[in-house]
This record gives sequence, C-alpha cells and structure tokens, in this order.
Amino acid sequence: GRKIAVPEFSMIVLIGASGSGKSTFARRHFRQTEVVSSDTCRGLVADDENDQAATPDAFALLQTILELRLKGRRLVVVDATNVRPEDRRKLVEIARRFHALSVAIVLDPGEDVCRNRNAGRQDRAFGPHVVRNQMAALRRGLRGLAREGFRQVHHLTSVDEIDSAEVSRQR
Ligand code: GTP
Ligand code: MG
Repeated sequence: GRKIAVPEFSMIVLIGASGSGKSTFARRHFRQTEVVSSDTCRGLVADDENDQAATPDAFALLQTILELRLKGRRLVVVDATNVRPEDRRKLVEIARRFHALSVAIVLDPGEDVCRNRNAGRQDRAFGPHVVRNQMAALRRGLRGLAREGFRQVHHLTSVDEIDSAEVSRQR
C-alpha cells in the first residue's frame, strides 16, 4: 500500500467529505489522544455532535487543543472535513508558529461511496448536496495544498488506496 512517512512532530490534517472515512482512518493509524475531532469538540461544548450552532465554539476548542499539543511538541491529527482553504488556513498558521511540519492526507473514495455510506448512518441526516458541495470544494483546492503550506500531500483516491495505506513515523 501507499507509504505515508510523517515526522514525529507534525500536524496531520485529514481532508475529505463526510463519509470519506476520516474518523475510521484516524482510529486505525493514530492513538486516540493524538486525534482532535470537530465532532468530539462539538459534543464537548454543546452535548450534541451535530449541533451546527456550536461550530464556532467547537473550532475554537479544536484550535486550542491543537496549540497546546504542538506547544508540547506532540503529534496531532485534525479530524474535520477541512475541504475549503479557509478551513485549513488557521491550522497551517498554528502549525507554523510551533515549527511543526504540516501534512495533508486527502481521503477521496468518490462521491458515491461517501453518499452511500452516509445513507446508512444514523448520525448523518443530510441531503446528497452536502457531500457534492464538499467534494467540489475539495477538488478546487487540491492543487493549492502545497502553496497553503502543506509540506506533504497524500491524495488517496479509492477505497482500496485508503484501506491499504501504511503510516509510519520518522525522527
Ligand atoms: P464525517 O465524520 O461525517 O465527516 O465522516 P468521516 O469521514 O469521519 O467517515 P467515517 O470514518 O465516520 O466513515 C463513515 C462510514 O463509512 C462509517 O460507517 C464507516 O464504518 C464506514 N467506513 C469508513 N471507512 C471505511 C472503509 O475503509 N471501508 C468500509 N467498508 N467502510 C468504511
Ligand atoms: Mg468523522
């Protein structure tokens, strides 16, 4: 499978539409304490992981955790859709401030896969346009990721590539 070798001190930003498998990927390859998730943060500030009104506070909390982990020179994985450049800008800025290397891992199994998976989820009740818009935003921004400040960009473009990816750490 695709080899993803990340520095021990890095900020890894998962990028992908809802249902692309970000939380599953994070769980498989990283320790629970290394992952900061927008859904978890939403739950912490508003009791409900789907409470969209809590989004600004959830991201404020996410960024605070990100800063505190990087201050301690600890690896951190950001589990949110992160599909728009404006979603990513603040994250890269924070990583740069702490001299952490920014890594983008794009999970892109295709719109149909995302939509079909979400259709079977109790916790994701939104229309197909949501995934379509997220995919469109992701595609538009792909080529700009290096310019945004990501030193590594890994674009996994099928279920198989995502499933077989191997993540390792380098000193
Ligand atoms: P959001 O949190 O909504 O943005 O989605 P996500 O990108 O975190 O997706 P998540 O990892 O929650 O996966 C969505 C659904 O797809 C879950 O029901 C998973 O069990 C399923 N899923 C994720 N990855 C895989 C995979 O590699 N293979 C299969 N068969 N199912 C997967
Ligand atoms: Mg998730």
